[in-house]
Parts: sequence; structure tokens; C-alpha cells
Amino acid sequence: MASEGLTPLVRRLAEAKRVTVITGAGVSAASGVPTFRGADGLWSNFRVEDLATAAAFARDPQLVWKWYAWRRELLAACRPNRAHEVLAEWSRRYPKFTLITQNVDGLHERAGTENVVRFHGSLWDLQCWNGCPDSPPSWRDERVPFPELPPRCPHCGGLARPGVVWFGEAIDPAVLAASLAALDCEVCIVVGTSAVVYPAAGLVDEARRRGAFTVEINPERTEATDRFDLSLQGRAEDVLDRLDARLRSEGSSSGNRLSSSQ
Ligand code: OAD
Repeated sequence: MASEGLTPLVRRLAEAKRVTVITGAGVSAASGVPTFRGADGLWSNFRVEDLATAAAFARDPQLVWKWYAWRRELLAACRPNRAHEVLAEWSRRYPKFTLITQNVDGLHERAGTENVVRFHGSLWDLQCWNGCPDSPPSWRDERVPFPELPPRCPHCGGLARPGVVWFGEAIDPAVLAASLAALDCEVCIVVGTSAVVYPAAGLVDEARRRGAFTVEINPERTEATDRFDLSLQGRAEDVLDRLDARLRSEGSSSGNRLSSSQ
């Protein structure tokens, strides 16, 4: 990608006050977190129906939990990469910045990103499988490894489940509402997603309909590439780093608010 390819976006980001970024697994690839699709993706080695549906959990909670516990262990050894860092800086820089992530890895939060909407929940949250009346809708549990598998609901002693959205489950209405509100933005950037899982994949279309300049950052073409105003082909950690450098240099030469990038 030639660096002139960044110019239309740099210009808009330098002026923007309302920026929304939507991320997928590709943003965490450089941290060593496996993506879902593609040759080495999780869904090449595992079946959704065995591991990521409520029916699978009802059938074999131990198997499902083994997979999630393995992913938590893997993640505990991963660190945020440059892509997470740049987005965390932007979250403090823009007056209105929302990061909607499909990722359940928690790396955006670990990088210090403000205003993260977790569209598909979190691997670090648990929920009571029976929805017992004493338990909160979800609670944080960062123990790696768990002392017992499957983990239990501390309120009723029944099974706990991962606090993630499984296939066939609805997005939490409050999460959906927060996401839709964030689509009233000037720039909407979609980073590292294959854009095949709805409703997440449809969010950018709504942002564009409302007038946002829409941008995709991905090393490969996706099903959604042709629907963006601008497509930047490259890795998240490289493209965002270069974008950030351009914004800083433009800021210091023009003396605008980006020059004092914290
Ligand atoms: P996918 O695995 O489907 O797509 C990952 C995307 O990241 C691909 O388009 C890659 O080209 C791109 N990619 C790879 N390395 C990259 C890098 N360094 N920088 C930028 N992009 C890179 O992951 P998602 O689109 O996030 O849902 O998957 C969407 C949902 O499907 C997930 O949230 C999960 C999954 O099943 C649920 O579990 C409900």
C-alpha cells in the first residue's frame, strides 16, 4: 500500500471529532491470537456446532469448557500489539470515540482503550447457565487455569458458561443500542474482520448510510471490500502505526489539536 493511499483518511481523521472503529480477530493476530477463518483459523480445526452453540454446551459442557479454558490460557500469554496501542491512544484523543469489537480476548481493554463495546462478550466473563436469580447477568473471572472444570456459578452452585455470544444467540440489546448509537460518526474504520458474521458485519453499512466515511483495513479482500469508501490493504499493526505517524506529523506541522498527542 502506497503511503499516498492513506491521505484521504488522514485528512478526515485530522478533522474528525466522532470516530468509530469496528475490530475483528485480525487486529489480535500479531499478538499471537488465532483468527477464526483461513488456513490456520480456529474454524479449520474445530466445528462451530461442537463448541460455540448453546446446544453444544447443553450436550457436553466439559468439552466446550476445555476449549474455552485452552483459549484463556493461550491469551494469558499474549500482549496487546501496535494496533491495539494506536486505537487506545485514539480513544483518548477524539472527543467521541467508540471501539466496537467482535473479539472476546480483552486485548483492547488491556491496551487501555476507553469506550469499548464488546459485541460478542468476553472470554473473561462468566454467566450462570441456569440464569439463577441471585447471579448478576455476568461476572469477571480471570483465573487461569480454573481450579475445577467446568467452573460453577458461585451463587447457585450450578454450571457457569462462558460470557460470550454463541451462534444462534441474540446480541445483548444494550450492546446493540450502544453500537447503533456509535454509528453516528464522521469516520468508521473496520479492521481485521472477514465481515461474514451478522449483525456485526452490517454495522458499517448503517454508518455509511448515516454519512460516515467508511474504511476497511485488512491484508486480504473480504466480502465487504467493495462497499467501503476506502480499502487499505495491509496488516492492522502496520497500517494503524503508519496512520498514527502521519496524523502526528500533520498535527505538528499545522499546529492543530493532534500535535499534542498524549
Ligand atoms: P475471521 O477469522 O473471520 O477474520 C479475520 C480477518 O482478519 C480476515 O479477514 C483476515 O484477512 C484478517 N487478518 C489477518 N491478519 C490480520 C492482520 N495482521 N491485520 C488485519 N487483519 C488481519 O475473524 P472475525 O471476522 O473477527 O464470532 O470473525 C467474526 C466472528 O466469527 C467472531 O467474532 C467469532 C467468529 O466465529 C463468534 O464467536 C460469535
